[in-house]
Amino acid sequence: MPNSFKLNLVQRPRRLRRTASLRAMVSDTVLLPKNLIAPLFVVDGKGRPEPILSMPGVFRLNIADLVKECRELNKLGVPAVALFPKLSSRLKDEEGSAALRQDALILRAVSAVKSAVPGITVMTDIALDPYTTHGHDGVLVPDGSDVDNDRTVEILAKMAVLHAAAGVDMVAPSDMMDGRVGAIRKALDSSGHEGTAIMAYTAKYASAYYGPFRDAVGTSKAPGAPGIDKSTYQLNPANRREALIELRLDEAEGADIVMVKPAGIYLDIIRELRQSTRKSIAAYQVSGEYSQIHAAARLGWLDLERCRLESLVAIKRAGADMILTYFAKEVARELNA
Ligand code: PBG
Repeated sequence: MPNSFKLNLVQRPRRLRRTASLRAMVSDTVLLPKNLIAPLFVVDGKGRPEPILSMPGVFRLNIADLVKECRELNKLGVPAVALFPKLSSRLKDEEGSAALRQDALILRAVSAVKSAVPGITVMTDIALDPYTTHGHDGVLVPDGSDVDNDRTVEILAKMAVLHAAAGVDMVAPSDMMDGRVGAIRKALDSSGHEGTAIMAYTAKYASAYYGPFRDAVGTSKAPGAPGIDKSTYQLNPANRREALIELRLDEAEGADIVMVKPAGIYLDIIRELRQSTRKSIAAYQVSGEYSQIHAAARLGWLDLERCRLESLVAIKRAGADMILTYFAKEVARELNA
C-alpha cells in the first residue's frame, strides 16, 4: 500500500546528509594533524619505555626514545610537542630546587629534540610540581599553609630563561600564580630571548581530571595527594567570568597563545574565549579525558576510534585552534590515511 502520508516541507535538512560526499561538503569543522600538540613524558636513564597504568598507550620515554617519537610525530605532520619530566624522588625537595639546575633532565631533553628534529616546535611546562616533594606547583610559605605566589613567580621566571637558553620555542606556565606571564615575559626579554613565545595556561581549572597525569609525572603519591588541593590557585570549575578575567590579564602581560584546560568538559569556556580574543587558543584535552575514553572502550562500552575523533572535533568546533592531546599520534595517523 502506498504511503499517503506526506509532509509538506520546503526544508529537509536530511537532503545534505544523504551521502558521505554531501556530508563532507557541508562539514564546517576540519581537524588536521597540524592542529595537534603531543604531550610527552621524559625520564632519565636508558630504560625501556615505562607504561603508565592509568593512561593506556602512553609511556615515559628516555631521551633517545623521546627524540625518535618526535621524529615520527614530525613526519605525521604534528607540529609541536609539550614535554613533561618525571624526576626520581631523590631529586625532589620542598623548594623544587632541581628545576633550576643547569643539568636538569628537561633541558637535556629539549636540546636533544631540537638538534635532532629542528622542525618540531618544542614547548615545556613552567611549574614546580615535578620538582617539589609536596607536589604543589610552587614553593610554600613558611608555615606551609599556602603557595607563596611571588616567590614562586621569581623561580618560574628563572626556570623559563633556562628553558629558553636550552632552545625551547615556547614556554607554557601551568602554575596559575598571579603575574607570572608578565614576569616570565620580562625575564625572557631581558636575557635576549625575546623570540621565545609564551603559551599561557589561562583558564586552568582545579580539575579532578588531572589524576592520571599525576601518576605519569609521579606526583600522585606526594604527601597530601591524590587529595592534593590546588584550588587556591587553579580556577573554580563553577566559574565562567573568571576565565575572562584571566584572559585579559594574560593578554596584557604578553601571552602569545591562551589556553583552556581541561578541554572537553569546558567547551563553553573555549567558546567564551573565542568570542573575546583575537589570540590563538589552545585547549588541553587532559589525561582524565583520555583515560575515560580508554576505560570505557576496554569495557566494550564505547568505540575508541570514533570517540577520540569526536572528542577532538568538538574541541575544535568550540573554537580551539590547537589541541594538546595524548591521542595526537594515533589521530594524526588516522587523518593522514
Ligand atoms: C602541572 C600540570 C598538570 C597538568 C599539566 N601540567 C597537573 C596539575 O595541575 O596538577 C595536567 C595535564 C593532564 O592531566 O593531562 N603543572
